[in-house]
Amino acid sequence: MSAINNKHILIGISGGIAAYKTAELVRSLIKKGAQVQVCMTQAACDFITPLTLQAISGNPVHTDLLNPQAEAAMGHIELARWADLIMIAPATADFMARLAHGHANDLLSTLCLASEAPIHLAPAMNRVMWSNPATQSNVRLLKEQGVQLHGPAEGEQACGEVGAGRMLEALQLADLIESQFSASAKQLPLSGKKVLITAGPTREAIDPVRYISNRSSGKMGYAIAAAAQQMGAEVTLVSGPVALEAPAGVRRILVESAKEMHQQTLKEAERSDIFIATAAVADYSPANVADQKIKKTDDPVSLELDYNPDILMDVSHQFPELFCVGFAAETENLIEHAKTKMLRKKLDMIVANPVGHNQGFDKDTNQVEILFKDQHISLPEQDKRTLATKLMNIVANQIN
Ligand code: PMT
Repeated sequence: MSAINNKHILIGISGGIAAYKTAELVRSLIKKGAQVQVCMTQAACDFITPLTLQAISGNPVHTDLLNPQAEAAMGHIELARWADLIMIAPATADFMARLAHGHANDLLSTLCLASEAPIHLAPAMNRVMWSNPATQSNVRLLKEQGVQLHGPAEGEQACGEVGAGRMLEALQLADLIESQFSASAKQLPLSGKKVLITAGPTREAIDPVRYISNRSSGKMGYAIAAAAQQMGAEVTLVSGPVALEAPAGVRRILVESAKEMHQQTLKEAERSDIFIATAAVADYSPANVADQKIKKTDDPVSLELDYNPDILMDVSHQFPELFCVGFAAETENLIEHAKTKMLRKKLDMIVANPVGHNQGFDKDTNQVEILFKDQHISLPEQDKRTLATKLMNIVANQIN
């Protein structure tokens, strides 16, 4: 029996010419054994009729937010709860903009906001609209919120232009939806676990244009976030400023300073099972931040620095039931310093990496020593993504 059998799929259609392909998508999903409800925006009804989708899905099609008759049959909150997965195909530039900014001004956007089901989008639009910075900024926002985007494909478009903007084919989308359920049915090692990760550097302002920071690129933390997500975890990544995109399916919260990272991480820790601190948090920040750019003078300048809060220490002390993993970045006495940090910060596990001299920071590879109270595992230098999967398998073995 297919993993999609009897699953509740909510298909959303926004107003684009590719809407005609969605009829075939609904038909394929029903053939695979899924139960399908369809919700259309007003603009979508100009491209394909609700009657067609009703005939194919075997269910009334939902179009209005304020329709008492429809609400009496299956209200919008009920429909939002009913869905195991939401797929918007086609997702227009306008719909993506509304979704990215949390609008609830029609039934489909309201359903997305009110549902806890994973949301998938199959974008379709003119190639220039797709590459427009406004659309690309919405794409980034959506990915940060954990929305998964499929396509668009390259090719000839309805407007006659050639480029990226075509909706994926109906059969491809049906297979993609099915694969989401086969993956979760496999009972992955971190299924049902909530993993919280800090990554990247922090920036501590000196004045409006200057800051103290470090060389962390975020690569190690982002690789761990991607590995945990692929192993079935629900992942939240609290990230300092980096040049990386949020991994697919990972919820990202962007912060700048150590204090912001501390605040957001402690808020998220309450609902997490595992905490992994890969961030290179600045230990100090300027005691006084100048309101205006500090002027250059001939006199030497000194900065007074205050201690920043220790995020890892506060999480492990306030949430003793969390499985806490720290990183130790050391230029000397790696194992000794890491052991001291593990005990002082009350950690279940610490990953020690040698840094400086072109090691650890801002590199694609890393070499680590993993320490527990009574165990020590050495992993040789390797790609951070491969290493991240090994680390997460070790964590999964510890907690299961
Ligand atoms: O980002 P990349 O370029 O990929 O580089 C990866 C890395 C070298 C930054 C990473 O592998 C790493 O070692 N991260 C921890 C860096 C660090 O700040 O180590 P530390 O030994 O100073 O801190 C010990 C632990 O306490 C760390 O888990 C750190 O996140 C945490 N900490 C430290 C200070 C603070 N104020 N709050 C914290 O949570």
